[in-house]
Amino acid sequence: DRGPLVLGIETSCDETGVGIVRGHELLAHEVASSMEQHMRFGGVVPEIAARAHLEAMTPTLQRALASADVDVSELDAIAVTAGPGLMGALVVGISAAKTLALATGKPLYGVNHLVGHVAVDTVEHGALPRPSGALLVSGGHTSLLRVDDVARDVTMIGQTIDDAAGEAYDKVARLLGLSYPGGPIIDRMAAEGDPKAIRFPRGLTARHDLEKHRFDYSFSGLKTAVARWVEKAERDGCEIPVADVCASFQEAVADVLTAKAVDLCRRDGLEHFVLGGGVAANSRLRTLLEDRLREIGVELRRPRPGLCTDNGAMIAALGSAVVQADLPPSPLDFSAHSSLPV
Ligand code: KG4
Ligand code: ZN
Repeated sequence: DRGPLVLGIETSCDETGVGIVRGHELLAHEVASSMEQHMRFGGVVPEIAARAHLEAMTPTLQRALASADVDVSELDAIAVTAGPGLMGALVVGISAAKTLALATGKPLYGVNHLVGHVAVDTVEHGALPRPSGALLVSGGHTSLLRVDDVARDVTMIGQTIDDAAGEAYDKVARLLGLSYPGGPIIDRMAAEGDPKAIRFPRGLTARHDLEKHRFDYSFSGLKTAVARWVEKAERDGCEIPVADVCASFQEAVADVLTAKAVDLCRRDGLEHFVLGGGVAANSRLRTLLEDRLREIGVELRRPRPGLCTDNGAMIAALGSAVVQADLPPSPLDFSAHSSLPV
């Protein structure tokens, strides 16, 4: 038995994703993005994202089924993102999934997007050791998790109290006059700069913050510090050393993300750790986290970049875990939840 054949649908933000897995094996991974339509607004516009999902949903579904050479009648289950995410975007995927479930009589599972970012690692590296830690960093979330069972026992340990890590990248890029999304651009520019040029603040790491926010993140103070630094340099008539600012900002983000992940692994004696979300593509975060985790004997699992950003395979992978855990399907009238907890 190679495990259940599950189709997953993801529409929580600006990516329309459809994935198909059998057990841990990835059979199809199709994504259509509306990113280009949001670029001139400097961020995702919910109404535009919803309409783009409506247009892309059926063609993406057809491409996934064709590339896996699967007929809907063969599926064991259908999984879909129930939240968290943009309400108007979520309802498009959920409507499609419900229709498909109704038409085929297959069981339907509404699942959590954040947990999907963890589950997708199974299609690359096999079953997730228990327990594992996980850090999800994207434009919409920054969450530190403890995963005892990806299908039914995931605990939110900490999260951002203001901006998400990717959001901080995008805002800093904007104030440096770089285009959107800023993460990949800052990552590239940072390679030419000195990460020690400017000491930017590491949010929520002061002793009095650690009492209440040991595992939480904050990036709005960092963003403001970069803005102040740039304004002062401009007032002083200096040319902005963009590469140094990028490298120093990136160092601050990677340093604080890593420090709290390491702290959790130490506290709980974790030996495995998953990194996911769009910011997982960041070169500095990846090496710093890998190095510091290795020092304490923790193995870092990181899916390939195309599976770190939002996609349907992560929802199919989580659906597969849920089916294998024998959990009951969702009722066909279940709702979307823009701030669904893990
Ligand atoms: O997961 P994702 O594609 O979409 C969601 O936000 O859900 O993540 C996109 C975010 C953007 O904020 C983008 O700037 C950031 O990930 N990002 C990066 C890098 N590549 C993408 N941030 C830092 N370094 C990168 N290499
Ligand atoms: Zn995501």
